[in-house]
Amino acid sequence: MAAQVNIVLLGLGVVGGGVAGALRERADTYSQRVGASLALRRVLVRHLDKERAVKLDPSLLTDDAEEAVSGDVDIVVELLGGEHPAYGLIRDALSRGRYVVTANKEVMAKHGPELLSLAAEKGVDILYEASVGGGIPIISPLKRDLSANEISSVRAIINGTTNYILTRMSRDGLDFATALAQAQQLGYAEADPTNDIDGHDAAYKLAILASLAFHTHIGPDDIRREGISGLAARDFRYARELGYAIKLLAVARREGSSLQVRVHPTLVPEEQLLAKVDGVLNAVQIEGDLSGRVLFQGAGAGSLPTTSAVMADVLDAARAIVQGGRPFPWRYTDEVAIKPLAELVTRYYIRLEVVDRPGVLAGIARAFGDHEVSIASVIQKETDEAAQTAELVIMTHPAREEAVQATAVQVRDLPEVVSIGNLLRVDD
Ligand code: NAP
Ligand code: HSE
Repeated sequence: MAAQVNIVLLGLGVVGGGVAGALRERADTYSQRVGASLALRRVLVRHLDKERAVKLDPSLLTDDAEEAVSGDVDIVVELLGGEHPAYGLIRDALSRGRYVVTANKEVMAKHGPELLSLAAEKGVDILYEASVGGGIPIISPLKRDLSANEISSVRAIINGTTNYILTRMSRDGLDFATALAQAQQLGYAEADPTNDIDGHDAAYKLAILASLAFHTHIGPDDIRREGISGLAARDFRYARELGYAIKLLAVARREGSSLQVRVHPTLVPEEQLLAKVDGVLNAVQIEGDLSGRVLFQGAGAGSLPTTSAVMADVLDAARAIVQGGRPFPWRYTDEVAIKPLAELVTRYYIRLEVVDRPGVLAGIARAFGDHEVSIASVIQKETDEAAQTAELVIMTHPAREEAVQATAVQVRDLPEVVSIGNLLRVDD
């Protein structure tokens, strides 16, 4: 039995700092739980002289990746972020027969199957609980606790930055740019928030969740993605009047033998639990045929919640090293086709700016009728008397995406239509 498990930390930022602090401050507890001491042997950083919240012996720090991973290492904990050099370092660690723990959704979404099979070949594992939902346990429940189910859907709010922005737009009537600036001031959004705002971060996370839920590989390119920058404060007001919240929803749903996988702003009925998940919180709702509906909710980011998830994986890997065996080895077993978004059937919210004169509605209704898109309700909202325009909010009955998009093209070309303000999907 190993008396000591040697750990290398790649990255000492928000999450790495939390993990280094936990390893130091909880050393006795962890060694009792594992049956061996956990020794932090080396920490890879980019800037050796940077001031850090966690004070470590400076001799542990290196900016040389090869030096960081050389020598007697049992577990490599990758907390650098981004695809490169993280992917290469993870591959290298697995190739050398080391366990890997990572919080890196981009690497796992793009290269998960290859890394998992490399780990299996080498008799080790790669664990990635922190890659989705920060402190929310979700990877492990999908791999183990729900594995006896046929899962029919995963619906999730898995980006804290955008959920904060949408909550401020909805509650306080802020426009998108102001809400984003506040998210940046509070440190939620990064200096370059593109990955969050455009839905890439949520798509990486959905790829990971859907791959586990449906036992197949779903890559980021399989996911249809739209971001939140086109939303206006009045969309939230109108949606609320209709009984909906607007969320950046990540959805993976089984339909027959194929899967819908998509991330976009979505109208969610206000009475649903997901509609009430506000601020930086994340939530994942799963429907299993045996378990029924289960909801996981909590802090989707932040140093300590993410440290909780990373350290759980470190402890699992350390136990496997000390006691033998591997923690939840995972295999993709199923082939599932991805359903094109054009075939989606759902209800739609469409906001239009139109010329305010008699007969306008008839032309618009004809365009919907031409594509067999049935209108459920039309509400006339604000009227701009000076410009002689009005705003219409149309809710459809369930319709095919491609028919709705064709309707939108025809409507946009009508002389009485000034613009299509927004076209959003509803997820009842
Ligand atoms: P971060 O604060 O930016 O820290 C990154 C760390 O990696 C820094 O210590 C940086 O060194 C080091 N680093 C980056 N590139 C490097 C390179 N090429 N060579 C050497 N060192 C390098 O990032 P984070 O927020 O801790 O995120 C780490 C990972 O956790 C990411 O995959 C992220 O997606 C994931 N995650 C984060 C959160 C969160 O709340 N922050 C939540 C869930 C998952 P310096 O310090 O010297 O610059
Ligand atoms: N940028 C991510 C978010 C951090 O806002 O949710 C956690 O992955």
